[in-house]
Amino acid sequence: MHIPADTLERIERELTLTPAREEAIVADFRAAMAAGLAGEPSTLRMLPSHLGKPCGDERGLFLALDFGGSNVRVQLVELCGGGRWLVRRQTAAPLKDPAGAYDHTSAAATGEQLFDFLAAQIASLVDGGADYLLGHTFSFPCRQLDLGHAVLLGWTKEIKTAGVEGREVNALLAAALARRGLAGVRPVAVINDTVGTLLAAAYRDPAADIAAICGTGHNTCYYDAARDLVINMESGNFAARPFTRWDDALDAASEHPGTQRLEKMVAGRYLGELVRLILAGLGDPVGQPYSLTTADLADWLANPGQAPSRRRLAALVAGRSARLVAATFRGVLAHIDPGRKTGHTIAVDGSLYEKMPGYAGALAAALGQAPVLVKDGSGVGAAVAAALAASRR
Ligand code: BGC
Repeated sequence: MHIPADTLERIERELTLTPAREEAIVADFRAAMAAGLAGEPSTLRMLPSHLGKPCGDERGLFLALDFGGSNVRVQLVELCGGGRWLVRRQTAAPLKDPAGAYDHTSAAATGEQLFDFLAAQIASLVDGGADYLLGHTFSFPCRQLDLGHAVLLGWTKEIKTAGVEGREVNALLAAALARRGLAGVRPVAVINDTVGTLLAAAYRDPAADIAAICGTGHNTCYYDAARDLVINMESGNFAARPFTRWDDALDAASEHPGTQRLEKMVAGRYLGELVRLILAGLGDPVGQPYSLTTADLADWLANPGQAPSRRRLAALVAGRSARLVAATFRGVLAHIDPGRKTGHTIAVDGSLYEKMPGYAGALAAALGQAPVLVKDGSGVGAAVAAALAASRR
């Protein structure tokens, strides 16, 4: 479909962050961090993770469970010291069967079914009688009671499984492991995926002190050196004003309106839907809600044969995401090192960052430094967290 040039220009203006707007977002983000830390009302929860950074010489063989949304992955990770690790074995499975046989993320699924499924994946990797310490990367907002225990505050990323919100997730996991005859597998740590990414990066690079996920969901954590503590900001809930009419429409139709407003502007779960809403408003219907995925946008951008106006919209929405995320990173840098006295490695993982054409470059340009891609941080990070838990015993 042809979109008139003036219409496209108007949309472009709505989706473009002016330098002044960008600076305002940096300042707003920094203020939200300060408010959250002071216990005042804030869109940033600033959740303490109950751990600091590894020294890089932690060693041993650990199980890592990575549960963050669309897939579950289990790895047997050997930490070798000297910042090196090996993934000995691994397995992965979708939480929603592509053929439709099961969906452990729907409101009809129960926590028991979900955690039994996770335990079944663990069982496929290790022997029943064996003893393992397990690190659990659970990528949702949690109130962390201590390193080994965390209560789910609320689902994000449109997950709806019943009977998990308000529960301690490692207790649910331990119960499922016991039902499965895997009592020798002991969940000793539970961490957010941003924290896992930071631990994996810091295991080999002491300068790593900020980590983010730009994937299905979005969030950033950082290391507070004064408190020797990693803080999970749950920055997906930040309100990066102003919102466009498409942001408001997507939010209003989402599972939890009013929450995760930044995530709904920047994360892979939502970018395709934003473009679909823009196109639908122009009379170019591309199907049901969420039928256009972020992977589709990546295909459009990689394929010059696609209609130029569609490619332009995809680039605008993805580019806005990269610049918004960069503005929040600048807010964190301003908070942890106002005078910018030292270098900071920023670790990023996630399919959006890794695969969307132009995304990593746009983020680096807006930030003034290139983040490092730390792949599979949540697996290795969970092993590092389990090692830190073991060393405290
Ligand atoms: C969750 C975060 C998580 C992020 C990336 C968000 O929806 O609230 O806890 O870190 O997704 O997976």
